Amino acid sequence: MRLYVFEKKTTEATPYSSLATIYDFVMRHVDYVHWADHVEALILRHNLVPSTMIDVACGTASLAVELTKRGYRVNGADACDEMLDVGRSKVLEGGYEIGLYHRSFLELERLERHDCAVSLYDSVNYLMCVEDIDRMFENVHGIVHRGGLFIFDVCTETNSIRHFRDMRERERGDGFSYVRHSYFEEGVQYNDFKIKFDEPRQDVHELHQQRIYPLREIKAAIDRSAFALEAAYDGFSFREPSEESDRVHFVLRA
Ligand SMILES: C[S@@+](CC[C@H](N)C(=O)[O-])C[C@H]1O[C@@H](n2cnc3c(N)ncnc32)[C@H](O)[C@@H]1O
Repeated sequence: MRLYVFEKKTTEATPYSSLATIYDFVMRHVDYVHWADHVEALILRHNLVPSTMIDVACGTASLAVELTKRGYRVNGADACDEMLDVGRSKVLEGGYEIGLYHRSFLELERLERHDCAVSLYDSVNYLMCVEDIDRMFENVHGIVHRGGLFIFDVCTETNSIRHFRDMRERERGDGFSYVRHSYFEEGVQYNDFKIKFDEPRQDVHELHQQRIYPLREIKAAIDRSAFALEAAYDGFSFREPSEESDRVHFVLRA
């Protein structure tokens, strides 16, 4: 008798394309109300009264929804259409008026100008070289009104070393489970996801890479850009960033 062994194939997926459907579960610890509070606090501190905002690399639009609830007219853009699809369902279900656009930081063409652009939760770290950071600043500058603000964050080497040098977690949600291994090597933070979907049964592998920039490289890119640096803050505070900062928020004026 011949025994056939069928090897289950793991699909290699582009970052976020499969994670999209479980992203809100993976991020369930994130308090987007608090994040929106902080965006508003920064806007107030920097004397802007915006009516329009755009969240660049908005993911599944959680922050965009929260900002919309506060009365701003909000749009979102992201490079991953699957993430936007989850956002679109959220927007539809809630009856919000949020435009969600499939755009990379590197191609933000044909978007209108806004009073304020935001990009939070390490999204800028997905740009893997300073040339792309330069291009991102040029593009975002093109979608912000003169005098408006661009607020973004980056995560730091301290954060990678402190929390993600060799972090493993295993989680089960409704219809899926995943194993995440995060590690940090030579300035790059890797987040390796192995996801098992129950129905249809499918194993997917996604490897995310984030470049962890020294703050001086980000500041040098801001100096080369058309933005003016108004402030850099230790994450969720109005303190100066330090070697101890896990996250740094930048506030730029267009
Ligand atoms: C950690 S998630 C953050 C999403 C969202 N800002 C949040 O707070 O939940 C990073 C996001 O960056 C997006 N992204 C990665 N590279 C990008 C690029 N070059 N242009 C635009 N979005 C990008 C991903 O698709 C993903 O939605």
